[in-house]
Order: sequence, then structure tokens, then C-alpha cells
Amino acid sequence: MSITISEFGKVSTGIAKLYVMKNQAGMTAAVSDMGAVLVNLYVPDKDGNMRDVVLGYDEPSSYEEINSIYLGSTIGRNGNRIGGARFTLNGAEYTLDQNDGRNNLHSGVNGYEKRMWKVADMDDSDTPSVTFELESPHMDQGYPGNATVKVTYALTADNKLSIHYDAVSDQDTIFNMTNHSYFNLNGAASGTILDHQVQILADKFTWADEESIPTGELVDVEGTPMDFREFHAIGERIEEDYQALKFGGGYDHNYVVNPGRETKTVARMKSPESGILMEVTSDLPGMQLYTGNFLEGDKVGKNGCRYGKRTGCCFETQFHPDAINHPEFEQPVCKAGEHYLTTTTYGFRVE
Ligand code: BGC
Repeated sequence: MSITISEFGKVSTGIAKLYVMKNQAGMTAAVSDMGAVLVNLYVPDKDGNMRDVVLGYDEPSSYEEINSIYLGSTIGRNGNRIGGARFTLNGAEYTLDQNDGRNNLHSGVNGYEKRMWKVADMDDSDTPSVTFELESPHMDQGYPGNATVKVTYALTADNKLSIHYDAVSDQDTIFNMTNHSYFNLNGAASGTILDHQVQILADKFTWADEESIPTGELVDVEGTPMDFREFHAIGERIEEDYQALKFGGGYDHNYVVNPGRETKTVARMKSPESGILMEVTSDLPGMQLYTGNFLEGDKVGKNGCRYGKRTGCCFETQFHPDAINHPEFEQPVCKAGEHYLTTTTYGFRVE
């Protein structure tokens, strides 16, 4: 219904802006050209009060300088880990930053989430939207191909935030982008998400080693604390003596949500306290459930809040981690000149 543009603050390359989209229901989503990040997401709770359900910062410089925990981040070119920080494509070997032990995490030290994007388009209609665009040159972060990457945030009249990615490169390359927002359905500064109930529509997850690199094995969730086919509180089984949970320090695993790559609901989360239910739809094969196990409260977030362990939960839709080194997984390779097109939505209602 409307888009309000304001100055967000200073970053190293100039002034970052904040774009606040609002729909008829009063829901708002604030995004910035600094990193194409999602900054605020105000959603009505069961009493009709608006709650900001994503973790973040008050200044754009924090997104640029201290956001090693990826609050609200647009991750690219590749989300999650690439084992040994190397891969082979069309017979050529490529080397990436080792920024997570000997592995590559979220594309290394020069992630898209730390860059200034330009605004390519804005639509101030009933479904307000903002499109950010980034030029990512050949060998940027170690990936082949000159790429043009676009991310469109749109807010629908029925309280869905849609995130659409459109990327194209002049050489075959990897595109596996995701959004790393941490959701807390009681509000960004309201404690842990352990009482939140989660449902993930997946029978299997990718087994990973102690470095969180998939072994290639797809393990049945049946009979394990990984089974979220029915709603379970996050805190119910997170401390169970189960190897995968020990390796991840909690939930930090990739679910096989959508091998057929349809557009469908892949997960839901609800909070009994606020009554807010979030529904995630995607057209990608995997989704990382990350329960903020590594949040340490060391960064100052919105309103001076320090986000501690498990105060937000991420639903990162993507190809499976390290897919490029696992030919048995669906490949995140995009051919030269073809468009990588994918959409994830986070929809909200009260229950
Ligand atoms: C990964 C975690 C990592 C986190 C960084 C998640 O996508 O799965 O292992 O620690 O990102 O914020």
C-alpha cells in the first residue's frame, strides 16, 4: 500500500537507506540497501498489537561491520558450507575463503550481506515491493562468472513477506542464496525461542559431520529428536543425547523439504504467547533449521538488546549444504545466461 523511504545511517561507502513497506493490514517490513537486509518485520499478534519478529540492529554500520551472526542477511552467492572451501565446476577447480575452520561458510569474508546494493525497482501498489541489485564480478568470492543478482522483497495484502531472487551470470556458476533472518514470534527482544513450536514437512535430513559438512547420507527423522512432522516445542528435545544435536550444538540441520522442487509449505512456527503463526513456503530442495545456538549476546542489537543463545530461529531455504561436492544432491549450478529464479515466503496469521 505504501513505501516510506528514510535515511538509515552512515556506512563506509555513503548513506544507507531504509525502505518501509506497509500493507492494508498494517503489517510493515523494513529493508535496507545496506546488504539488502531485512531490518524490521512488524506483525499483528493475537491482541492486534504489532510485534517486530526479526532480530537486527539500529544502525546500518552494524550490518556492515559486526554482523558475523548474519542477522537479517541476504546470503550469496552460496548459503551455508562448502567443505574444504573448494569445488570443481566444468573441470576447473575453485578455491574459496576458509572462514569456518577449513570450510567456507555463507561465501566467506566478503559476503553480499556486507555490501551496498542499488535499488533497481520499487512498486508502491497493494503489494508494495523493493528490488535490490548487485553486480558480482567474475571470481568474486572465488566464484566464476560476472553476475547480476536481484533480490525483491514484497509484502502481500494477506501478510506474507515474499523474497524473490533472480540472478544471472555470463559463465556457469553457483547460485544458492538465502535469507538468514532470525525470527522470534514474541518480539525481537523477548528471550529464547525454546517455547516456540515448529513443524517441518520433511521425512529426512542431511546427516553432517562434526564440522557440519553433510556426509551425503539422508537420515530418516522417524524416532529421532529431529522429527518435526508434527508440531514440537524447540526446547522439548534440543538437549537430547543425539549425535546430530551434539554436533550442531542444538538444531542446525538441513531438512529435505522439497525434493520435487514444487512451490509448497515447508515449515511452520508458532508461539503460544503471542499467538503468531508463521508459515514458510519455498521451491528449493532444502531448508536449514538453525536455532541460534551460537548467539552469545556479544553484539548490541535493536534498542540496545543483546541477543543471547537461542533467542531467534532461522528457516533458511536453499540447496543442501556442500551440494556442489555431492553429485547425489540437487545441484546449485546455474548455466551461463540462464536465470536462477526462486521465491521464499514467510506468511503470518494468528491462531
Ligand atoms: C549455519 C550455522 C552458522 C550460522 C551463522 C547458519 O546458517 O547453519 O552453522 O553458525 O549460520 O550465523
